[in-house]
Amino acid sequence: MDQTVVRLTAVDLDEVVELESICFAYHWTREQFLLGLDRGIFTILGTWAAGTLVSYIAFSLIEDEMEILNLAVHPAHRKKGLATLLLTEAFKICRKQAIKKSYLDVKRSNFQAIGLYRKFGYRQTGVRLNYYPDTKEDALLFMYDFTSEIL
Ligand SMILES: CC(C)(COP(=O)(O)OP(=O)(O)OC[C@H]1O[C@@H](n2cnc3c(N)ncnc32)[C@H](O)[C@@H]1OP(=O)(O)O)[C@@H](O)C(=O)NCCC(=O)NCCS
Repeated sequence: MDQTVVRLTAVDLDEVVELESICFAYHWTREQFLLGLDRGIFTILGTWAAGTLVSYIAFSLIEDEMEILNLAVHPAHRKKGLATLLLTEAFKICRKQAIKKSYLDVKRSNFQAIGLYRKFGYRQTGVRLNYYPDTKEDALLFMYDFTSEIL
């Protein structure tokens, strides 16, 4: 498996949407990703295996805030550290760009993702009840504070 993280562009969006549809019942469209890329707001990083995209993270960088929009690893490639690798690269970009805070929301039942985010130092800051349109599940809101890092 290739452990190289690369930046994805508009030409990779079919692969991104394909992986989204494998990993999420309710997923982003090609047009939504394209709009964010065209506006220079979204960054998408990914890893490939044998010519297929197997993981990606999409985040927005606006002023000094980063928001994780989505993060997914193909079911056949989970628990091998790929999400850790992607988030580590995303954090490097944030530090270079003097990002102060990172935000995300995650389904209350998604213990795998919650475990990952807690491992990176995210703290829960709130709850949005019945937030997700597909399952009406609550969203847990998490935040990571880059300014509190000891350099
Ligand atoms: C959440 C997800 C991205 C994790 O990807 P991954 O590559 O398997 O994660 P990693 O191998 O880097 O694991 C990192 C940490 O995540 C947590 N984790 C991941 N899978 C887990 C599992 N099956 N059970 C418990 N914790 C898990 C652990 O804290 C793990 O650290 P550890 O290995 O030291 O225990 C992956 O399960 C996925 O794509 N899920 C479906 C899409 C999704 O829910 N995305 C998040 C949207 S907010």
